[in-house]
Amino acid sequence: MVRTAVLVSGGGSNLQAILAARLFGEIQNCELVSVISSSQNAYALDRARAAGIEVSVVDVTAFPTKRTFNTALLQKLHDLDVELIVLAGFMQILQRPIVKEYENRIINVHPSLLPAFTEPECFGLKVHERVIESGVKVSGATVHFVTEEIDRGPIILQKAVDVLQDDTPKILQRRVMEQAEWEILPRAMDLFCRGKLQVEGNRVLIKDDV
Ligand code: GRF
Repeated sequence: MVRTAVLVSGGGSNLQAILAARLFGEIQNCELVSVISSSQNAYALDRARAAGIEVSVVDVTAFPTKRTFNTALLQKLHDLDVELIVLAGFMQILQRPIVKEYENRIINVHPSLLPAFTEPECFGLKVHERVIESGVKVSGATVHFVTEEIDRGPIILQKAVDVLQDDTPKILQRRVMEQAEWEILPRAMDLFCRGKLQVEGNRVLIKDDV
């Protein structure tokens, strides 16, 4: 079983999708050892507790710098003997020591079809605002491995979602989560934990997926 930590900061709807998929046996060979939050108040913590998952808080506001926060987070990951890190709405940037040590073992979900819509400070609702402004007819979500270059790591899975004429950023955000994020994040975890992913340069090959 792959010892997995899910990192969260907010509402935790992606975490909920992971918990549901796990319940239905759709994520195999995965041991959820902890949900780690960067905020004391994240609703995701309640979701994890309700599912009987151990929770930990590494509160970003308790540290003088991002570097000391990252050091504490890495220590926590070591303490838990984590092998796979899943970023599910985690709002902090992981720095080099974590990214290097966990190369090709950190999975993130981004609410656009990468490499589109990744300007600096473009996260959360902002992504969907930019998508609507740009006039594209299709958006979606991407699950990728995390590298030091933000939003540029090897892509594991993507799923497209229509952008409709009357969409507001909130409506589009909801559709992207429901139809794409909540499906491809658990699926990518399952593929990783069953040893089906092979990284070659910036490409991820999926081995005989049965
Ligand atoms: C999602 O849109 C995800 O793509 C982004 O942050 C949002 C998190 O939502 N990284 P939640 O906390 O999982 O509900």
